[in-house]
Amino acid sequence: MKKTQQILNFEEYDSIDQLNAGDANLLNEARAATADAYAPYSNFKVGAAALLENGLVVRASNQENASYPVGICAERVLLATVATQHINMPVSAIAISYNNVNGESDHPIAPCGMCRQSLAEFESRTMRPIRLILGGMEGKVLVIPEASGLLPLAFDKTELDKKV
Ligand code: THU
Repeated sequence: MKKTQQILNFEEYDSIDQLNAGDANLLNEARAATADAYAPYSNFKVGAAALLENGLVVRASNQENASYPVGICAERVLLATVATQHINMPVSAIAISYNNVNGESDHPIAPCGMCRQSLAEFESRTMRPIRLILGGMEGKVLVIPEASGLLPLAFDKTELDKKV
């Protein structure tokens, strides 16, 4: 037996004011995208914005459904939009913001497990890391250099390639 570990390195900023201009712009896009959320059931509005390698910015938000599990997180709406509307275009960075039912949004949230899996797949298919910028409408901001860092020991396509 040997003990091993996987370490997540990320940056923590006190506020959006400390970010470089590009990251601050993308976080503001994500904040603005919260207004487009369709979240009548949870009233938890999530906005996500992707900076594409060609410089375009694409926005998305969570889309809920009366049949609750049918709802889709902002991150996966975003990745599906990029994959279908900007074919084969890698994503350099994604910012994620939110506000909750009480309008509170003073700390970063991180993508759910299912979205982490989708982000890892997108990185793998485009062979590029996706930088994550996580922040509320105010407060501290986390910058994670590679989305797949959030999913240690991930299940990926290499398993499916195995011949038995
Ligand atoms: N949600 C997202 O859009 N992204 C996340 O990373 C976490 C959760 C959405 C799903 C649902 O519409 C609402 O937030 C409450 O869970």
